[in-house]
Amino acid sequence: MKKFLSIVMALTLILSLAACGQTSNNENTSISSDSTERLESTLDTDNPNTSEHKILVAYFSWSGNTEDMAAYIAEQTGGDLLEIQPSTPYPTDYNECGELALTERDNNERPEISNLPESIDEYDTILIGYPIWWHTAPMIIGSFLESYDLSGKEIYPFTQSASMDTEQFNNSIAFVRESAAGAAVHDGLFARPSNTEAIDEYLLTNALVR
Ligand SMILES: Cc1cc2nc3c(=O)[nH]c(=O)nc-3n(C[C@H](O)[C@H](O)[C@H](O)COP(=O)(O)O)c2cc1C
Repeated sequence: MKKFLSIVMALTLILSLAACGQTSNNENTSISSDSTERLESTLDTDNPNTSEHKILVAYFSWSGNTEDMAAYIAEQTGGDLLEIQPSTPYPTDYNECGELALTERDNNERPEISNLPESIDEYDTILIGYPIWWHTAPMIIGSFLESYDLSGKEIYPFTQSASMDTEQFNNSIAFVRESAAGAAVHDGLFARPSNTEAIDEYLLTNALVR
């Protein structure tokens, strides 16, 4: 009888241990699959530059200010950086550059770009940066935007200038809107490159931060 009882107890112990192991295995499985889902949804929504949501930071800069801004924005957004380069470089002399830029604006010219990517299809969000030239955007910004079918793309212009005149900024946004047919051109960012607080706020408001 004693032997029988100890067999029953041993069996009970084995069965309950097995049941315990089962429970903890199930719990582990469900925790890890939950956290995978959580990670995937974090990647989709929190990082704007995932494969489903790619950002291009394209800019034109003559004396480096827009370039500084673009580099900072690319860093914050995780976007790919592209400097728009004219086939014929602008004169390094300020007055000569000014004269040429004014002629281009007055004739609504579209200066040729030397490094135009064949396609920007992989990007659904484009941040486009430029300095104010003669109260609007440089005409080469029109050359860039009009080279592509931008339907369905989200465009965010960013710019700065010597005077930081709001009317000139608004003119430039109107020019970007005309040049980017089919795209949603959002309100732009007008801030000095050193004003990282304003840049950060703009990127955050528009859910563009990495
Ligand atoms: C051709 C040319 C035209 C400009 N026109 C204006 C203008 O209309 N209004 C203004 O406030 N600044 C004007 N500027 C000054 C630039 O907007 C300013 O220097 C800007 O910071 C240059 O940016 P970047 O270094 O990216 O080229 C002009 C500069 C150049 C070279």
